[in-house]
Amino acid sequence: MDPTPVYSVVNRRRLSNSDDTAKPHSTFGMSGGVMKIAGRTFVVSGGASGLGRATARDIVKAGGNVAILDMNADLGDALVTELGASSAKFWSCDVADTDSIAAAVQGAVSWVAATGKPFGGIIPAAGVGRPGLILDRHNNPLSLSSIDFVMNINLRGTLDLIRQVLPHLATSPPSGPDNERGVIIMVASAAAFEGQMGQVVYAASKGAVASMTLPMARDLSRFGIRVVTIAPSMFDSAMTAVMSDKVKVGLKKAMEFPPRAGKPEEFSSLVTQVIENIMLNGVVIRLDGATRMPTLRGRQARVLTYAQLFPKARHFSTLPFP
Ligand SMILES: NC(=O)c1ccc[n+]([C@@H]2O[C@H](COP(=O)([O-])OP(=O)(O)OC[C@H]3O[C@@H](n4cnc5c(N)ncnc54)[C@H](O)[C@@H]3O)[C@@H](O)[C@H]2O)c1
Repeated sequence: MDPTPVYSVVNRRRLSNSDDTAKPHSTFGMSGGVMKIAGRTFVVSGGASGLGRATARDIVKAGGNVAILDMNADLGDALVTELGASSAKFWSCDVADTDSIAAAVQGAVSWVAATGKPFGGIIPAAGVGRPGLILDRHNNPLSLSSIDFVMNINLRGTLDLIRQVLPHLATSPPSGPDNERGVIIMVASAAAFEGQMGQVVYAASKGAVASMTLPMARDLSRFGIRVVTIAPSMFDSAMTAVMSDKVKVGLKKAMEFPPRAGKPEEFSSLVTQVIENIMLNGVVIRLDGATRMPTLRGRQARVLTYAQLFPKARHFSTLPFP
């Protein structure tokens, strides 16, 4: 395979950076290194609820536009009403369906052309869990459909959204003294490192997301695009809302400080920092208050496993704990 075309395209882009009229912007009192949120458009999947919704809110608060892709049209429409139709637009999208992503991305591209606010980043936050033991007590192995369901949304859906938006992000005008084009912020989980019983597939999907971070950053550095992954512990969201007090008390025992679930705004404030701090690249950041989930045994394990296996919103919500 001849790598020359890639390099020649990149070199041409680098040479053409001289026509970048964007002024360096700094919130740190430094001369550069700050990606602007204002004036850019960010694509957020799973943006209608939980961590993605908090992210969409913060992006708009900082003057950016947000393209919200989600399966939940009621929540998506409500968020657009809240944020204002000039700053937020919703596309009903199933990230497990490549045509559905293509239609949403095409819509977002047209919106960007109309607003003149180029793409600045992708935050693929759509995620689900369908907990299940790899082998249950009746000697039944985990079904392939359960495996495909989780992997198709959490891993394939993350990659597919990124790959479909990337050609547009890579042709966004570079900004700042470092000629940055944008940032991809993926969402893994503490389960990437300390998955619990019943989380084999969820852990596999989130571990894969974490593992993609560095090679993707290496692939995209030539385009001035950074890649960072955030791995949250338990955060308040639709999924943790289904947990019983008993389960929450059990989980708190594994927490250091603060001994509580994170708030979606604490996740989104890190997203904002990642967008603005150009030195964050190729790294997985744990956002967990030093929580390290131990092996759970006996009653505690049974309570937690039961809670995972029988969450109320089983199909369209994530695991009842990270
Ligand atoms: N809340 C936590 O404790 C926690 C911890 C670690 C990681 N995470 C991860 O954070 C991300 C956000 O989760 P959350 O806690 O905000 O959950 P949430 O259920 O509040 O939000 C997830 C959103 O993704 C959407 N979604 C689900 N399947 C989709 C699909 N096929 N296509 C498009 N959208 C789809 C849902 O409609 C929902 O709006 C997920 O990837 C989750 O795995 C959450």
